[in-house]
Amino acid sequence: MAASDPAQPSESAPGDDTLAELAALRAQVELLTHASHELISTQTRMQSLLHRATDAIIQFENDGTVSSFNSAAERVFDVAEIEVLHQPANQLFDLPAAFRDNVPGFLLDYVRRTPDQHAQPLTGRRADGGKVLLEVAVAEISSQDLVLFDDFSDADVDADNGYEAFLCILRDVTERKRIDEELRRHREDLEQLVAEQTAELRVAKEEAERANRAKSQFLASMSHELRTPMHAILSYSEFGQKKLDSAERPKLGHYFDRIHSAGGRLLGMINDLLDLAKAEAGREVYAIRPGDLHATIRGVLDEFEGLAERRGIAIDFRPAEDVGQLAFDDDKMAQVVRNLLSNAIKFSPDRGEITVCTAAVTVHDGRGDQAAVEIRVSDQGPGIPDDQLEAVFDKFVQSRRTDRKTGGTGLGLAIAREIVNAHGGRIDARNNADHGSCFRVVLPRQPGAVQGSSPA
Ligand SMILES: Nc1ncnc2c1ncn2[C@@H]1O[C@H](COP(=O)(O)OP(=O)(O)OP(=O)(O)O)[C@@H](O)[C@H]1O
Ligand SMILES: [Mg+2]
Repeated sequence: MAASDPAQPSESAPGDDTLAELAALRAQVELLTHASHELISTQTRMQSLLHRATDAIIQFENDGTVSSFNSAAERVFDVAEIEVLHQPANQLFDLPAAFRDNVPGFLLDYVRRTPDQHAQPLTGRRADGGKVLLEVAVAEISSQDLVLFDDFSDADVDADNGYEAFLCILRDVTERKRIDEELRRHREDLEQLVAEQTAELRVAKEEAERANRAKSQFLASMSHELRTPMHAILSYSEFGQKKLDSAERPKLGHYFDRIHSAGGRLLGMINDLLDLAKAEAGREVYAIRPGDLHATIRGVLDEFEGLAERRGIAIDFRPAEDVGQLAFDDDKMAQVVRNLLSNAIKFSPDRGEITVCTAAVTVHDGRGDQAAVEIRVSDQGPGIPDDQLEAVFDKFVQSRRTDRKTGGTGLGLAIAREIVNAHGGRIDARNNADHGSCFRVVLPRQPGAVQGSSPA
């Protein structure tokens, strides 16, 4: 070749062919070298990507052994690549018997059966014994192609190793699930709180409306009750004025009597209302000190002796021997007994019988058994309709079984209840088995111990 003259075209054609072939070969070698460099560079980039990926990526060969285990996989499962490389990665999951030694098959089956992995993530096992929740994607690698499985129909996946290599991408969602769960619990707590507060508000609103209605009703009843004696006073005083010169003295005296008794009734009512308002506002001062309850009851019985006698009513007092001393406000408790006794006499038939008895009792409440004293006032009157046994303790409520003409405004029992409550006791009414009603007061031996409890 060195002897040939480039200026003189050679006659021999085979030499040219060889050169051309050589040039073509060189070009092919260059192409291949370039392609090989490209491949190496792509592979290097892919390796770098694989190891920098935040998701765990595991590659399995078609015999089910691990051929690649990236850094994220090492972190997720707490195991080094070297420990799982060329081994079946059995220890990473709880494998059912059907997939023993077949982790790729298990993952494929899981992905196929559980399309909504967000709701039911797969549980992986870490080397340190911990559990991780994982979302899974799988890919089949055939030759150099990477085919992502979108649809895991049987046609796409051959149950018996339908891949040359198998790539599995696992995302650790443990923390996200924990936060989701915490958020869910917070949301539930919040919903419950809102529901509770709504219910409380509803109760408060109903209570306020009830109180408002009660107030309006109270005002209406009060004005009505006050107006009746007021009318009597105005009418009789007007009669008096008109007939001052013409009427006889006894007639005028009769008008004065009427005015006086209506005035007395008015004053009594105003006093009752003031008592009640004071008690309800908690401004009543009680002088609770040890005393003899039987002496207090006897004092009230004496007050009613004349009235009872006039109507032939017998009052039988049966004090219990073991009642003994007790702490109470003498005046206020006398007011309670006076109220009960005045009702019993008022509603008793002539020649009826009233029984007043006391007893030492034990009551149960939240703090256990409490020693208490009971006073019962029982009569042979009309009794109280069952649905009004509680209502008669409300202001201005009078039972439909009693005649309004018997007098009274319906405040006595409301006042009695305020007084008994202030002693920590309770008062209620029931009907006797035969006829008449029975009012019962239970007073704790230690004030404040009996409210809301039931007698033993
Ligand atoms: N022993 C009883 N027998 C039958 N009904 C009763 C008896 N005691 C009370 N009641 C009923 O309960 C109502 C309320 O009693 P309460 O003592 O509060 O008021 P009153 O006696 O009507 O009036 P006040 O006591 O204010 O003068 C009575 O009007 C009556 O209808
Ligand atoms: Mg009364």
